[in-house]
Parts: sequence; C-alpha cells; structure tokens
Amino acid sequence: MKYNSRLPLPVLAVALVLLVSLAIPASSCTEQEKTSLLQFLAGLSQDSIAKSWQEDSIDCCKWEGVTCNENKTVVGVSLPFRGLERRIAPSLGNLTGLQHLNLSYNSLSGGLPLELVSSRSMVVLDVSFNQLSGDLHELSYSTSVQWPLQVLNISSNLFTGQFTSTTWKGMQNLIALNASNNSLTGQIPSHFCNISPSFALLELSYNKISGSIPSWIGNCSMLRVLKADHNNLSGTLPDELFNATSLERLSFSSNGLQGILDREHIVKLSNLAILELGENEFTGKIPDSIGQLRRLQELHLARNNMYGELPSTLSNCTDLIMINLRNNSFTGELVKINFSNLENLKTLYLAWNNFNGTIPESIYSCIKLTALRLSYNNLHGQLSNGIGNLKSLSFLSLTYNNLIDITGALHVLNGSKNLSTLLIGLNFMNETMPDEDNIDGFENLHFLAIEECQLSGTIPLWISKLANLEVLFLNGNQLSGPIPTWIYTLNYLLYLDLPNNNFTGEIPKELMNMPMLTSDKTAANLDPRIFELTVYEGPSDQYCTCIAFPKALYLNGNKITGEIPVEIGQLKALQSLDVSHNNLKGPIPQSISNLTNLQVLDLSNNNLTGEIPAALDNLSFLSALNISNNNLEGPIPTGGQFSTFPNSSFDGNPRLCGRVINKNCGLAEADPAVGPAVSVVYTDKSWDNKVIAVVAFIVFVGVGVIYDHMVLSRYFGG
Ligand SMILES: *[C@@H]1O[C@H](CO)[C@@H](O)[C@H](O)[C@H]1NC(C)=O
Ligand SMILES: *[C@@H]1O[C@H](CO)[C@@H](O)[C@H](O)[C@H]1NC(C)=O
Ligand SMILES: *[C@@H]1O[C@H](CO)[C@@H](O)[C@H](O)[C@H]1NC(C)=O
Ligand SMILES: *[C@@H]1O[C@H](CO)[C@@H](O)[C@H](O)[C@H]1NC(C)=O
Ligand SMILES: *[C@@H]1O[C@H](CO)[C@@H](O)[C@H](O)[C@H]1NC(C)=O
Ligand SMILES: *[C@@H]1O[C@H](CO)[C@@H](O)[C@H](O)[C@H]1NC(C)=O
Ligand SMILES: *[C@@H]1O[C@H](CO)[C@@H](O)[C@H](O)[C@H]1NC(C)=O
Ligand SMILES: *[C@@H]1O[C@H](CO)[C@@H](O)[C@H](O)[C@H]1NC(C)=O
Ligand SMILES: *[C@@H]1O[C@H](CO)[C@@H](O)[C@H](O)[C@H]1NC(C)=O
Repeated sequence: MKYNSRLPLPVLAVALVLLVSLAIPASSCTEQEKTSLLQFLAGLSQDSIAKSWQEDSIDCCKWEGVTCNENKTVVGVSLPFRGLERRIAPSLGNLTGLQHLNLSYNSLSGGLPLELVSSRSMVVLDVSFNQLSGDLHELSYSTSVQWPLQVLNISSNLFTGQFTSTTWKGMQNLIALNASNNSLTGQIPSHFCNISPSFALLELSYNKISGSIPSWIGNCSMLRVLKADHNNLSGTLPDELFNATSLERLSFSSNGLQGILDREHIVKLSNLAILELGENEFTGKIPDSIGQLRRLQELHLARNNMYGELPSTLSNCTDLIMINLRNNSFTGELVKINFSNLENLKTLYLAWNNFNGTIPESIYSCIKLTALRLSYNNLHGQLSNGIGNLKSLSFLSLTYNNLIDITGALHVLNGSKNLSTLLIGLNFMNETMPDEDNIDGFENLHFLAIEECQLSGTIPLWISKLANLEVLFLNGNQLSGPIPTWIYTLNYLLYLDLPNNNFTGEIPKELMNMPMLTSDKTAANLDPRIFELTVYEGPSDQYCTCIAFPKALYLNGNKITGEIPVEIGQLKALQSLDVSHNNLKGPIPQSISNLTNLQVLDLSNNNLTGEIPAALDNLSFLSALNISNNNLEGPIPTGGQFSTFPNSSFDGNPRLCGRVINKNCGLAEADPAVGPAVSVVYTDKSWDNKVIAVVAFIVFVGVGVIYDHMVLSRYFGG
C-alpha cells in the first residue's frame, strides 16, 4: 500500500490504527465454538446443514445459518425450515456470545434445554413450530441471575404444565413471550410485569389455561398485545385490566368470560386497535363510550349474549376495518348509525340479531366493503341503487329478512361486478322470479342462493349467463316448467339444488353432461374465494377453507315424470343424488352402479319398477340409500354397502325380498353361512365392507353438514 505523504498526520494515525485492528482479530471462530456447534449437529438426524458445516470446517463463521460478529464470535444461529429432527443439544448454551437462536419450523422434539433460556448472552430465542415437549416448570432456574433474554417464542409445540413464579425468575428483561398453541394448563401468570417491567407482548392462545384474568395485568404499563383466545378462562374482565392503557390488541375470544363492557373502563384503553371478545358469555350493550376508541380497527363481539341498540357513536371509530357482531340479540334500527364515516370498513357482519328497519343508505358509502352479512334479522324494504357503489363487494348475504322486490334487487346488484357470493333467500315472499333479459352482470358470481321464497315463474334464462356459477340453490320456491336443458352449459356448476318446486317434464338428458359432474375436476381448480367466504365458519370465526361442497344433484319434491336416463352413469363424479318424491317410473338404470363416488342416493317415493341392479353393491362409498315407496321387486343385494343399510331403506316395496326385511326370497337366495369355506369368504368380505363403511362414514360426516339443508342454511346464511 502506498500512502500519499501529503496526508495530515491524524489521518495517517487513524489509518494505522485501522490497519492494526484489522490484523489483530481472530481469523476464525474458536475451537470451542466449533465443538459446541458440532455437538449440536450431532444431536440432529438431518444432514442438509451437515454438508455446509463440514465442508468448510475451518471457520464456523462461514457455516450456513451461523453469524459471527467482527471478533469472530458466534452471535447468531438461524436455521428455520431446515427439516431438522431430534433434539436440541444443550451445547449451544456453551456459545458464550450467542444472542439470536432461531430454530423455528423444524421437527425438533425432546425438551428445550434450560442452558439456552438461562444463557448469559441469549436475547432472542425462537423455537416455535416444532414438537418440543416437557413441563414449563423445567425452565425454572433457582439463582437470582438476570438473564438477557428479551424474546421467547415457544409457540406451536407440545409444551405442558403451567407458568409459576419460578418460571419467570431470571426473565427480568423479557419483552415478548409467545406460548400459543401448546397444552399449557393453570392460570395466566401473574406478577410477570413486576418481574419484567418492559413486558410488551404475551400470547397464550390455544392452550388449556383456566381461571380468571389476573388483576395484576393492570400493572403492565408497557403491555401492547395480550392474546389468550381459545382457552378456558372464566369470570369477568377485571377493572384493573383497563389500567394497562398501552394495550393495542386484546384478545380473549373463545373462552367462558361473562359480564358487560363497562362504559367508563373501556375508554381507558385508548390505544386499542383490535378488540376480540367473541364466543364468550358477555351480556349488556355496547357502551356509547366506544366511540372514543379512535384507533379501533377491529371489533369482534360475535356469539355472545349482548343486546340493545348499537350506539350511534360507533361511527366515530373511523379506522374500523372489521365489525363482527353476529349471533347476539342486538335490536333497533341500523339507520341510526352513520356508516358514511367508516371509510375503511371492509367487513360488516351483523347476521343473526334482531335488527329492524331498512338497510341504511349510509352503508353504501363504505366503498371498500368486501363482505356484508345482514342475514337473519328483521330488515324490510327494497335494495336501493346505492348498493351499486360497492364495487369491491364480493360477499353479500341478506338471507331471512323481509325484503321485497326481487326484480329491483337483481337490477341494482348488477353494478357490483366483483360479487362472488349472493345469498338472498327467505325474502321476497310469493313474488315472481324475474326472467328479463336485461338482468346482466354477475360475471364473477360463483354462488347464488334464492331459496325458500315461494317465487313463481320458471328458471330464468339469465342464470345461463352466470359462466362462473358453481353452486345454485333455488329450493323451496314454486318454480314450474321443465328443468332447462341449458344447465349443462354452466361449466363450473357442481351443486344444483332444485327441491320442492313444481318442475315438470322429464329429467333432461343434457344434465347428464354437466362438466363438473362428469369429470374429476375439483373445486380446488376453481376460484377458492367462494369457499373462503361462504362455507361453514369454524368456531373461531376464521374463514374455513376446509370443506368444499360435494358434487350434488337435488331434484326431489317436484313433479318430474319419465324414466331415470340411462346416461346417468356418465356423472362419474357425483357424490349425492336425490330424485325422490317425483313421478318417475321405469327401472333403476344399471348404469347407476358406475357412479363410484356416490355417497348418498335417494330414489324413494316414485313409481320405479323392476329389480334393484345387483351391481349397485359396487358403490363402496355409498353411506345412505333410500329406495322406499316404489314398486321394486326381487331380491335385495347383500354385498357391499348393502349389509349396512337399515330395512327402512326398502320400505313400501311389497315385492322386494331379502334378509334385511325379513322376507325369504325362496330358493333364489342361498344361505351364505352354509359351508365353512363360503362362510369364511363371507365374513372376510363383510369385514372389509365394514371398514369401507367406516371410512365412507367419516367422509360423509366430513362433508355431512352440507347435506342437511337446514343446517347448511344456518351456516351459510349466517
Ligand atoms: C461446555 O464446555 C465445557 C468446556 O468448555 C465442557 O466441559 C462441557 O461439556 C460443554 N458443555 C456441553 C453441554 O457441551
Ligand atoms: C425466525 O425465522 C422465521 C422464519 O424465517 C421468521 O418468521 C421469524 O420471524 C424468525 N424469528 C425471529 C424471532 O426473528
Ligand atoms: C416468535 O415470536 C416473536 C415475538 O413475537 C416473533 O418476532 C417471531 O416472528 C415469532 N416467530 C415466528 C416463526 O413467527
Ligand atoms: C404466536 O404464535 C402463534 C402460534 O404459533 C402464531 O400464530 C402467532 O403469529 C405468533 N405471534 C407472534 C407475534 O409472533
Ligand atoms: C398449532 O401447531 C400445529 C403444529 O405445529 C400447527 O400445525 C398449527 O397450524 C398451529 N395452529 C395455530 C393456530 O397456529
Ligand atoms: C388501577 O385500577 C384500579 C381499579 O380500577 C384503580 O383503583 C387504581 O387506581 C388503578 N391504578 C392505577 C395505577 O391507575
Ligand atoms: C353522515 O356523515 C357524513 C360524513 O361525515 C355527513 O356528510 C352526513 O351529513 C352524515 N349524515 C347524517 C344523517 O348525519
Ligand atoms: C375484485 O376482485 C379482485 C380479485 O379478488 C381484486 O383483485 C380486485 O381488486 C377487486 N376489484 C375491486 C374494485 O375491488
Ligand atoms: C326393521 O328393523 C327393525 C330394527 O332394526 C326391526 O325392529 C323390525 O322388525 C325390522 N322390520 C322388518 C320388516 O324386518
């Protein structure tokens, strides 16, 4: 290196110092650190990191996931998502400079070594999303040394036991503890804010914590996040809780808490952004002082026993994004609230209450609204043009109110181009189904339910333009005429529900070409948004994507005549078929035995004749069969699922015979228990069938909620 001699002396001096200090530091990590890391590696079964760690064996600072400071001391080990298995060796505690350890999202098991928690250097310890187990008690340490630990994330593991004051001893510097999603018992720890004065985040969700909320929480002046949802907490919100005025997020959903929201207390939490108290036993009204919580973004009070009118001051909470008050007993007119101020509102769930009056026009100023659920209330009147302002609206449920003018409603909804789900059944009583050609738009509609309205008319042609339709409910109307042949042109339709109307004519053969029912294409290939929003919401009010609709055809309770088309065998993907309570005649087509995905088959209450095709015992997923009240004859098959159906499945067919209905078929039916060889085969087979039946039953129960229309409308309407 060549220095310019004109440089002033101080600069040279600095340069010299720099040069010296660059020369002095260790050239690699120490042997002892290397040993500690290799001991940790030896405790794992995984070799994805082993390669990197051994190839460059000289300097462990260069190993994958290892960070050193300028003195070549190991300060960080970060190995999330590496598929690590087996145990965390305590040797990591020997890395005297280790400050950050992140082993999240692996498959580590065994305990969490106390050496890591009580290390003299560790500041951030994240072992979340593993299978670590052990009693939290084992983490307690009996000296009065202060640990530097600030962040401890042990969430989503298998830890058990409870927090005691000894667990906290030593954790004077703790700022954030996430212990959610374990199997912790006992009570919410008390006194922790005395021990760790900077404590800001406590997450204990999804555990088995019981008892009441400790009043000590009030001493936590720095606490910003307190989440203890999905536990077994009881009692009321203690007055002292509201002294924790830094709280931004308070979540006690899904517990057994009681009492009211006190108007004087709640305003103290002026920093609150998220208040989650759903699924408890709170009563009383929403206090008008809630309007002073100017930072409130989410208000979740669903599934409680709250009542009274909503305070008009709610409209002062202009940051609100989400309001969920469903399943309470709130009353009064919504028009008293000026929703115009809630410019950020995206989700408004007021379903299953007793609101009356009309739908407030001011809601139509919330132009960011994507989901609006007002179902199961007593709202009346017409939908006004204003709803067309809601360009982002994707989900609209108005089921079970007293709305009128379905023609007008469908015209004004044309404007909501993003509408994916429209649930408006149980309104518009005895009106006529509009069949005008100028009903248009709805190009994104996936789910349409206009059920139980006693509408007259026919299935209108405009439905044939809903090119993305997947689910259609028109049951419980008085629609007449034939079932239109164009139904099969709806490429994505997988659930057609037309029961209890006055349809006449034959089952159109074209229906046997419905693309979704003839192919294995699943709804998963389609837009998942619809399922996110509509299908059964789990207890936590989280959207549940777990249940897809079954592929189903329901034509029961009409006046359909003719024979069941032989082409029915083409609907290979069909899971549920109900054509009961019609005037069908002729035989049960042999081809039904091709519907190998069928779980439910109801052909009852028709005039079907002939024998039950023996091949129906091929339907190994069939868990419910009803062919009662027809004119069928001959032997009832005994193989396959037929050994599991009750005799009521066959009632009202005087000429049927078989053991299940206690009627001998004569010589035609051999007694299967005749010889030992036959007997063995028979029992083996019936055992297989039972296993299959159990499997089928599980599948059936899994999607079973869907089959029951009442249950279904409770969920998707709600
Ligand atoms: C930590 O290091 C010491 C020596 O420095 C050694 O005796 C001990 O076994 C190490 N502990 C672990 C757990 O590796
Ligand atoms: C640990 O790593 C995961 C995955 O990258 C990351 O999400 C998490 O925030 C990290 N933990 C800490 C405490 O930084
Ligand atoms: C664990 O919790 C800490 C503190 O809340 C957080 O920073 C970190 O991101 C969490 N880790 C994961 C994997 O989410
Ligand atoms: C706490 O843990 C839960 C469950 O592992 C996780 O969902 C949540 O995001 C975590 N919170 C923070 C702040 O990291
Ligand atoms: C709970 O932990 C399990 C196992 O790590 C994980 O699959 C699940 O998603 C977690 N649940 C929540 C709510 O974080
Ligand atoms: C905490 O709350 C209690 C009860 O509401 C009250 O008496 C007390 O003065 C409060 N303490 C502080 C420090 O604000
Ligand atoms: C509702 O609020 C908007 C915006 O603040 C205001 O323009 C309007 O006059 C209010 N309406 C009523 C009826 O108070
Ligand atoms: C309509 O929905 C799509 C897909 O979710 C979204 O990207 C788009 O922004 C939405 N349009 C409006 C106007 O909200
Ligand atoms: C139908 O089954 C029930 C109980 O399983 C039985 O009591 C009844 O006698 C059976 N009826 C006939 C006609 O076999």
